[in-house]
Amino acid sequence: MAGASALATLLLLHLCLVHTEVLTPRYFNLASKKKITATATCGDEGQELYCKLVGANADHDEHVIQGQVCDICDATNEAKKHPPEYAVDSSETWWQSPPLSRGMKYNEVNLTIDLGQEFHVAYVFVKMGNSPRPGLWVLEKSTDYGKTFKPWQYFSDSPQ
Ligand SMILES: *[C@@H]1O[C@H](CO)[C@@H](O)[C@H](O)[C@H]1NC(C)=O
Repeated sequence: MAGASALATLLLLHLCLVHTEVLTPRYFNLASKKKITATATCGDEGQELYCKLVGANADHDEHVIQGQVCDICDATNEAKKHPPEYAVDSSETWWQSPPLSRGMKYNEVNLTIDLGQEFHVAYVFVKMGNSPRPGLWVLEKSTDYGKTFKPWQYFSDSPQ
C-alpha cells in the first residue's frame, strides 16, 4: 500500500513538472544553427580587401594601410572566410557583407534566417562587428515561409 502511494506521488510530481515546462518555456536562441543565407558575402567572388574603422586595433595577421586596419576576405580560405553560417554558430566568428569597393549595389544585402516554423519571439539581439555599421537596416519577418516579408523593426543610427 505504501509502495503504491509513493508511486502515485511520483507520477503526480512528474505531471506537475511537465505542466510547468509547458507554461513557462525556457528562452533559447532561435537562430542558433538554423538555415541562413545571404544575397552576397565578402570574399565569395575571390579575395577582397576590407578595412575596419579608424582607431581599430590590429590583430595578429592584419595589415595597417594608411592608418586603417585592413584584411582580406576569401571564401576559399578557412581563416579568411565569413559565410552566413558564421552568424548563427554561437561562436566569435562572423558573417561579413561585401565591401562597397565591389559595387555600390552592395549597399543593400539581405541576410535571411529560416527558422522553419512559427515562434513567439521574446527579444531580438543582433551583434555588429567592429566596422562601419549599416546606417539604416530593417528587420523583416515572414510567416509564409519566405513568400512575403513585412517590416518588423527599423534600425537607424540617426533620428531622421
Ligand atoms: C531583399 O529582400 C527584399 C524583400 O524583403 C527584396 O525586395 C529585395 O529586392 C532584396 N534585396 C536583395 C539585394 O536581394
